[in-house]
Amino acid sequence: MYNQTVMTKFLNPRNAGTLRGANATGKAGNSSCGDVIKLYLLVDEEGIIDEAKFKAFGCPATIACSDIACDLVAGLQVDEALNVSSKEIFDELGGLDDNRVYCSVLAEDAIKLAVEDYYKKKAKENK
Ligand code: FES
Repeated sequence: MYNQTVMTKFLNPRNAGTLRGANATGKAGNSSCGDVIKLYLLVDEEGIIDEAKFKAFGCPATIACSDIACDLVAGLQVDEALNVSSKEIFDELGGLDDNRVYCSVLAEDAIKLAVEDYYKKKAKENK
């Protein structure tokens, strides 16, 4: 059902946990299955994502997608993170069953919400 890459990421997610000092968070949920991903970003003064971590409640694919999403956004400029798509997450994992494709969409949503949160906080700071 799950390929080896998904299982490895699920069993040993390197980016699981909270992130001390995180200055942006994005929480995405799927009301039909109940899966939830909370993504934490630590963005430096130049707008580069120094680190990303996640907490997730869900199936192995959701955990694996969250972990890959953190790998993909780390080192990017915040706005570049918006280019990380569910397709890229799906491809990095070597594919997912049809009924698990939504897990990669959930991870993309969490990234977008975290970036949005970053810009909201930045706008408040500049007021
Ligand atoms: Fe629902 Fe993964 S099974 S998002």
